[in-house]
Amino acid sequence: MLMKKPIIVLNFKNNKSSVGKNALKLSQIAESISKKIIVCVQAADIYPISKSTGLKVFAQHIDPIDFGSDTGFILPESVRSAGAKGTLINHSEHRLDLSTIKATLRRAKDLHMTTIICAKDAKESAMLSKLNPDYIAMEPPELIGGDISVSTAKPQVIKNTVDLVKKANPKVLILVGAGVKTGEDVKKSLELGADGILIASGVTKAKYPVKVLKDLCSI
Ligand code: G3P
Repeated sequence: MLMKKPIIVLNFKNNKSSVGKNALKLSQIAESISKKIIVCVQAADIYPISKSTGLKVFAQHIDPIDFGSDTGFILPESVRSAGAKGTLINHSEHRLDLSTIKATLRRAKDLHMTTIICAKDAKESAMLSKLNPDYIAMEPPELIGGDISVSTAKPQVIKNTVDLVKKANPKVLILVGAGVKTGEDVKKSLELGADGILIASGVTKAKYPVKVLKDLCSI
């Protein structure tokens, strides 16, 4: 059976190898492998990367604030006008309470930004999918940044996430992440019913990101 093409979302986080000039370089590498890769970058890197690549650039976080005096918070309009087409919300490293998730989602939708809400397990994924984001990204926190991928360590959790989210809100696309490194991890995630993956260190800390990206996109 022909497998659907995976959605690959690459989170640059704050690694030295993936901020500033290095972020631009890594984005250009990603674009040379596939123009469909979505990159989630530091707020200050959104504009240069949007300007010099054709990739979809997402913010890693936005705050549900309006124009005004909230010094240091990330104004959704600001990242939007810098070129962000979407945003992560509630990443495991930036968890939000439910009312903040709802408010952030509302602000993102007002600005026609694509939304990826992150969740820690199947149950939370199902609960948050009812808010109607475009994507749910399920990442078991203990596997993030590690060497064992979610598809190897917790295939059943992927399966449960897919089952519960599809029941709760069949329109929502499902990403899985944590420890993903290879095309084989991507393939397994898709076989378990996910639509794609959310990945960081497997690429940002790789000695040869080109090789890893090619492998990830080979499915
Ligand atoms: O946002 C993706 C991330 O949390 C997963 O990180 O390094 O395990 O791919 P990593």
